[in-house]
Amino acid sequence: MLNIALPKGRLGEKVYAMFSSIGYGCPEMLEDNRKLIFTNEENGVRYFWAKPSDVAVYVERGAADVGVVGKDILLESEPDVYELYDLDIGKCRMAVAGIKGERPASDKTLRVATKFPNIARNYYNSKSRDIEIIKLHGSIEIAPILKMSDVIVDIVETGTTLRENNLEPYETIVDISARFIANKASYKFKYDETSRLLEKMKENFDKKK
Ligand code: PRP
Repeated sequence: MLNIALPKGRLGEKVYAMFSSIGYGCPEMLEDNRKLIFTNEENGVRYFWAKPSDVAVYVERGAADVGVVGKDILLESEPDVYELYDLDIGKCRMAVAGIKGERPASDKTLRVATKFPNIARNYYNSKSRDIEIIKLHGSIEIAPILKMSDVIVDIVETGTTLRENNLEPYETIVDISARFIANKASYKFKYDETSRLLEKMKENFDKKK
């Protein structure tokens, strides 16, 4: 039995549809219910719906053998897991953004509002720039508008949120997409099951990239 953690929400539903299309279906998943764990003995899979940022925790601790998680979460929490495949969906980028037409002075400590302190710190360390992190949990865009921060480090997908708030991207830090990850011990002990799924993904999804 392969235990698979999927992120609750649109991305997870898309991933489930992809897995189902290559023989890892579990019809009960599509029923309108509030169950969180689904088993299909025939296909040898058990799925869990987890909060997106928790998927890596389940996989790192081995409660799930494999899972799908955004690269943003992997870069932020740096879990000790194998990253095996880029599903090429859930694409967006991690960017520095701020008020349109303005650029913060480079001689002062930069105040950075973000949900991703680790990514922001690593980025500015690599540029030897002094920063102060302001950790927020959502609606980050408000911070520079209210002058609480000089910039934000956040996910940009369509760019609509920035535009509608008179902000603009200043720099791209890294491109993001959904990744298939595996627990390190499970990868060894369930190597056959994991690599069968991985090979099927490569066979079916590589050519669509
Ligand atoms: C994310 C991100 C941006 C927005 C970007 O927010 O933090 O606010 O999406 O998307 P766009 O470029 O297509 O406008 P999310 O919806 O996850 O909410 P939150 O960060 O405010 O909690």
